[in-house]
Order: sequence, then structure tokens, then C-alpha cells
Amino acid sequence: MKKVVLSIILGSAFMVSCGPKSTAVTGPKFSSAEHLAQGKTVFENSCNRCHKLPDPAKHDDQGWIKTLSRMAPKAKLSDEQHQMVYDYLVSVNKK
Ligand code: HEC
Repeated sequence: MKKVVLSIILGSAFMVSCGPKSTAVTGPKFSSAEHLAQGKTVFENSCNRCHKLPDPAKHDDQGWIKTLSRMAPKAKLSDEQHQMVYDYLVSVNKK
């Protein structure tokens, strides 16, 4: 019994330490209108808590990868929300 408990504890510690890291957005992924609309909603609701909503044209696609990887954890976005916000931003950052 002791062994089982120990292996469960070790097993879950292993899983936690090796869990997927967030902020793995490296490029566009979603392009459906539905995802972009969701990304816009998340952006408008989450990114104006600490500062004014930034202008999507402020950064190019590469710039948003860097900025969002700093800001998504601040806004407590899930990986999927992070990705949707990124895809929304790069869909509107070009004039
Ligand atoms: C918990 C507070 C907080 C939230 C939420 C937040 N930010 Fe920020 N943001 C900051 C602070 C503080 C700075 C200035 C310091 C810095 O640049 O790290 C900043 C700076 C910025 C800048 C200017 C710097 C740059 O790299 O251009 C942009 C753009 C930006 N945030 C975008 C966003 C976006 C997009 C979101 C939503 C995903 C977001 N922020 C959510 C705190 C926040």
C-alpha cells in the first residue's frame, strides 16, 4: 500500500513538472471567422484591465508573438485564448 501511495505522489509530481508550458504561440493557427471573433472578444475584455486597449497595428506578426507571450500570462489567458487573440491581432494589424 505504501508503495502505491508513493508512486502516485511521484507520478503526479512528474506530470506537473513536465506539463505543457503555456505561451507556445509561434504563429497563426486559427483563421475561421468564429475563432477570430472570439479572439477579438477575449482581447477587448482582457487586455484593457491594466492599460488602454493597444492598437493591433502597433506590432507586426513577429512583434505580437513576443508581446503576447509577455501579456497573455498577465491577462491569465489559456493557451487557446492566447492563440485566438494572436490570430485576431495578426488578422487586423495590416492596413
Ligand atoms: C495584469 C496587467 C496587464 C494585462 C492584463 C495586460 N497587460 Fe499589457 N502591459 C502591462 C504592463 C505593466 C505593461 C508595460 C510594461 C511592459 O511592457 O511589460 C504592458 C504593456 C503592453 C504593451 C506595450 C509594450 C509592447 O510590447 O508593445 C502592449 C502592446 C500590451 N501590453 C498588450 C497587451 C495585450 C494584447 C493584453 C491582453 C492579452 C495585455 N497587454 C494585458 C500589463 C498588462
